[in-house]
Amino acid sequence: MKPPPSSCLLLGAPLALLVVVFVLPSLRPPQLGSDGPGALCGRRAATNVAAVAPPQEPEPELSLLIGILTMPSRRERRDIVRMAYALQPPAARARVDVRFVFCNVTDPVDAALAAVEARRHGDILVLNCAENMNDGKTHAYLSSVPRLFASDPYDYVMKADDDTYLRVAALVEELRGKPRADLYLGRGFPVCDDPAPFMHGMGYVVSWDVAEWVSGNEDILRNNDTRGHEDRLLGKWLNAGGRGKNRYNIKPRMYDVHWDVDNFWPDTVAVHRLKDNRRWAAVFRYFNVTAGITPSNLYHLPLSTHTSSVSTWRLCPLAVFLPENIYRCTSK
Ligand SMILES: *[C@@H]1O[C@H](CO)[C@@H](O)[C@H](O)[C@H]1NC(C)=O
Ligand SMILES: *[C@@H]1O[C@H](CO)[C@@H](O)[C@H](O)[C@H]1NC(C)=O
Ligand SMILES: *[C@@H]1O[C@H](CO)[C@@H](O)[C@H](O)[C@H]1NC(C)=O
Repeated sequence: MKPPPSSCLLLGAPLALLVVVFVLPSLRPPQLGSDGPGALCGRRAATNVAAVAPPQEPEPELSLLIGILTMPSRRERRDIVRMAYALQPPAARARVDVRFVFCNVTDPVDAALAAVEARRHGDILVLNCAENMNDGKTHAYLSSVPRLFASDPYDYVMKADDDTYLRVAALVEELRGKPRADLYLGRGFPVCDDPAPFMHGMGYVVSWDVAEWVSGNEDILRNNDTRGHEDRLLGKWLNAGGRGKNRYNIKPRMYDVHWDVDNFWPDTVAVHRLKDNRRWAAVFRYFNVTAGITPSNLYHLPLSTHTSSVSTWRLCPLAVFLPENIYRCTSK
């Protein structure tokens, strides 16, 4: 079967200018592996939290904000992604917060459900931009974060897709010994002789100073330089500004899943193109998320059965991802 054409596009329609940013909720949202009220720690939600004295955590060595760019209507995916983060082992000596990032929520039904979701999970971030896939949304995200979290900055800011399974502890170990400044890390997208003129949009990390630089760079908006594929645009801004020089291409550890879901490997940092529940199920089986279930008479789940149903989603033609408008071979 053919995919809908929209699934092949990294980016879509025009950009709305960023003016004001607001956040839901104003409560301090939960941290990954913490005992806050959010779904990222849903296992504690039904217990008496006050009775559970948290052990003294050592000071975090690094902090990371993970923003998953998604849309209000994608509730089922968000539910799966939340569980994927909540059921991971916590990253040692790190403060990691996960947020689902929307542009303006305009539909009243979405607004009501997003408000309830924000109350329940405390992990919703709403930016002042028009929701139109990724056109300008990454810029809105990276340029808003330094102001939104100015009182409690992070070392690193990550953008991730909602079809990416990210293994947080593995990523944190990658980052732990790396510079805290002028960093740009992800899966390099090779163009000509350059292995990483930009990082693939499945997920990339910049250091806080780089996000601040994007935020303060008025040329980007003045030149309408937010329209186009967001991943290569970020590379373009950074390359033009001489930023992100501490550049780490961890390519083999971040990859796209094959359409027959057979290319996982243990050293994974991120798997991308998890476009349907069948692929998420395969991820949960491979990375032993299903294996953690407590045996019980109350459920009988055929977890070891490998489903081999036909995928309804196929890889996009490669041409869609060619960066012809920004990156050209100059050596030819
Ligand atoms: C987003 O919503 C705010 C508050 O309702 C509004 O002031 C702003 O103009 C909206 N922005 C866009 C880009 O639609
Ligand atoms: C940016 O886009 C606006 C609106 O489409 C247009 O008026 C303006 O001339 C553009 N600026 C540049 C530098 O292309
Ligand atoms: C999952 O668990 C099995 C059995 O303990 C182990 O052999 C395998 O390495 C684990 N897989 C991953 C990705 O950790």
